Amino acid sequence: MTIVQLEKRIVWLSTLFALTLLGLAALAINLFHVGLPTCLTDIKPFQKGELITHSPDHYELHYVARMWKFEPEDVVIPVGSTVDIYLSTPDVTHGLILAGTDLNLMAVPGVVNYARVKFDRPRVYQLLCHEFCGTGHDRMAADLRVVDLATFNAKQSAPKPTQPTDPAYRLLEAKDCLTCHTIDGSEGIGPTFKGIYGRKTKLKDGSTIAADDVYLRDSIVNPGTKIVDGFDDVMPKPELTDEEVDLILKYLENLK
Ligand code: CUA
Repeated sequence: MTIVQLEKRIVWLSTLFALTLLGLAALAINLFHVGLPTCLTDIKPFQKGELITHSPDHYELHYVARMWKFEPEDVVIPVGSTVDIYLSTPDVTHGLILAGTDLNLMAVPGVVNYARVKFDRPRVYQLLCHEFCGTGHDRMAADLRVVDLATFNAKQSAPKPTQPTDPAYRLLEAKDCLTCHTIDGSEGIGPTFKGIYGRKTKLKDGSTIAADDVYLRDSIVNPGTKIVDGFDDVMPKPELTDEEVDLILKYLENLK
């Protein structure tokens, strides 16, 4: 065998090998629904998480990862659905894995990442952030529930739970205050709002104060000045008008 013949054979074999790999990849995508994550730079990042129904078995799911939660937090879809998942973030880099699937996307400010997943059996999938993104990183989780058709239909026709309509509550929610402060007394990244008004509060510097109007207003407008003992100085300065701060103070005063 001459060298030229040998080279020809090697070229043929490499081509065959490359084609086999491509074929296997195509098979994996089509047969086993392995989604290839894609970075889309021509779509404007979403500000709002939502589930959009295209047909009874095709959904579009916009996830927004933000410090420190995923929106929407609880999604229900029927088994057999194909879901186009889009992920974006308005703040820092987060990651998204869907435990129990191959889905693994990065949430990078300024771009939208995409992958398609088909859900063939009913179960509750947990979404987790896998990129360290600050104090609340380890609480970044959400549920994606794949349910059988009967359960799904029953849920669709069930009356929606009533949302709190208090404008102050809605403002706290819109400004993401409730990501870190609870209103039911349970533990959070920041002190709970429940009973905060007039509460004797120990500060990091060792002094004790009563959380009056002046202190609360100051703590909302300049979060870093007086830190409550046991908590970290992590609250970003919120964008609030004076009227909005008044509204929040009034709400806190009544939250016994
Ligand atoms: Cu978001 Cu870690």
